[in-house]
Amino acid sequence: MKFFIDTANLAQIREANEMGVLDGVTTNPSLMAKENIRGDEACKEHYRQICDIVEDNVSAEVIATDYEGMIREGEELHAINPAKIVIKLPCTAEGIRAVKYFSKKGYRTNCTLVFSVGQALLAAKAGATFVSPFVGRLDDISEDGVELVAHIVRVYRTYGYKTQVLAASIRHTNHIVKCLDAGADVATCPLNAIKGLLKHPLTDIGLEKFLADHAKVNA
Ligand code: E4P
Repeated sequence: MKFFIDTANLAQIREANEMGVLDGVTTNPSLMAKENIRGDEACKEHYRQICDIVEDNVSAEVIATDYEGMIREGEELHAINPAKIVIKLPCTAEGIRAVKYFSKKGYRTNCTLVFSVGQALLAAKAGATFVSPFVGRLDDISEDGVELVAHIVRVYRTYGYKTQVLAASIRHTNHIVKCLDAGADVATCPLNAIKGLLKHPLTDIGLEKFLADHAKVNA
C-alpha cells in the first residue's frame, strides 16, 4: 500500500519524506487555507515547493466547479510539474467530465469527495487514476468508511478497473490498518497517524533492555 501525507504543511511533508516511506502528498483547499496560502500565484508556488520535496504524486485540487473552469485550472496545475502533479477534481457531473478529458490527455487525476460505490464506479469509468473515498467523514455520520473502501476495491477487482483506491479522510492509525485489510491501494494520512504505526510498548521495552545489557558489559 502506498502512503501519501494529507497536508499542505511543508515541515510535515519534509519530516514524512525523511522517514523514507512517503509516496506522495494530497492537499485540498481547506489544507491550503490552514497554511494561509492566499491567491493563485501563492498556491502554485506552494505546489512547486511540495514537488521539490517529494518524488511523485502531488494532488492539487481545482477550485472551479464548472467544466470549463476545471479544465483551465487543471491545465495550469498540471503545468506546474507535469511529472508529479495529479489533478484533483470533485466527484460531480462536471468533475467526472473533466476527469474524462484529462484521462484522454494522459494526465493523472484524483477524483475526490467520494462517498458511495456508485460515485467510485463513475470515476473509474471516466479513467480516474485515483478515487478518494472519505473514510473519516463517513464514520462521523455513523456510516462505515472502511466498508466503503472494501466495497470499491471488490467492485474494481471484479470488473478490472485500473483506478487506484486512495483511502482519504484518515483520522487515526487504526484507520490505516483497517484500510490495509480492506485492500486500499493508497492511504493518505496525517503525519501523526503514520507515526502511530511505529508505536509498540514492547519495542520500547525491548530496546531499553538491549541497551541496558550492552551498557552492563561495556561500562
Ligand atoms: C484528501 O484527499 C482529503 O481532502 C482529506 O483526506 C480530507 O480529510 P478530512 O475529512 O480529515 O478533512
